[in-house]
Amino acid sequence: MIKKGIVLAGGMGTRMSPLTKAINKQLLPVYDKPLIFYPLSILMLAGIKNILVIVNKGQLNQFRKILPEKNHLGINIQYREQKKPEGLPHAFILGEKFIGKDNVSLILGDNFFYGQSLTKILKKSVSLKNGAKIFLHPVKRPQLYGVASINNKQKVVTLTEKPKTPKSNLAVTGLYFFDNNVVKFSKKIKPSKRGELEIIDLLNIYKKKKKLSAEFIGRGGAWLDTGNIKDFYDATNFVSAIENRQGLKIACLEEIALNNGWIKRKDIKEAIKFYGNCEYSSYLKKI
Ligand code: DAU
Repeated sequence: MIKKGIVLAGGMGTRMSPLTKAINKQLLPVYDKPLIFYPLSILMLAGIKNILVIVNKGQLNQFRKILPEKNHLGINIQYREQKKPEGLPHAFILGEKFIGKDNVSLILGDNFFYGQSLTKILKKSVSLKNGAKIFLHPVKRPQLYGVASINNKQKVVTLTEKPKTPKSNLAVTGLYFFDNNVVKFSKKIKPSKRGELEIIDLLNIYKKKKKLSAEFIGRGGAWLDTGNIKDFYDATNFVSAIENRQGLKIACLEEIALNNGWIKRKDIKEAIKFYGNCEYSSYLKKI
């Protein structure tokens, strides 16, 4: 069982400047809550309680205000600072001590997932013992992402980072499950032309060893990468439409923790005090 997860929430957010000059992108609002709540909720839905959040140097206190180490969510949060964005696999080098001898999941701090069968797929994926698992989703402009092509047995044949002429429309989303070799392999890979360790290079090591598997988030699910301002507002509109229609919140961390049996009613009361008099607290009162 994978019991540890990393949220990679650093990066300079340059594509979203000036919004990100003073505030980290992952703390900006997606409708009614900070962006980071969404990827964190995915790890929690997977049943992962031990979480390392990697943030930019100098921004730790911003994150601590909303997600303190001592929290009412029943999860263990640790922080590590990243001096500069050295690439996604750098998370496993920074997180070596946190990972220890265990397997680990990684989610990018700007990724948004939603869908009916998602929790089921997540629960299945945490049982990974060997190898690596990725999640693929069809997109209109695959050239913006890591792209996977698959064969008729749904096995991954090629993996390329931001190809000019993509071999498929399947993007590699920012959610990954790895066995413990990930630390060793991350130390092996060399920075790419853009000066970063590339997740695709790491995944290609697993693929070469025939240790890579893929899950598909089909058209009934949604994956949004909030990399630029338009995507950001699209995510806000998506959450607003669903929440206002259903009266149910997406990524309400306390609701997930309560359903997982990690916290009790008194913790929800603490949370209401913590957030103060707001719409989010009114929702907490209802649950
Ligand atoms: O969103 C999925 C895509 O994420 C994948 O399809 C690509 O294969 C993968 O390389 C990545 O591509 P991006 O170009 O979108 O990655 P970006 O540099 O925007 O970083 C993603 C998040 O991770 C962002 O919230 C910032 C954070 N980050 C990134 C780097 C490189 C860090 O915290 N530290 C880093 O060193």
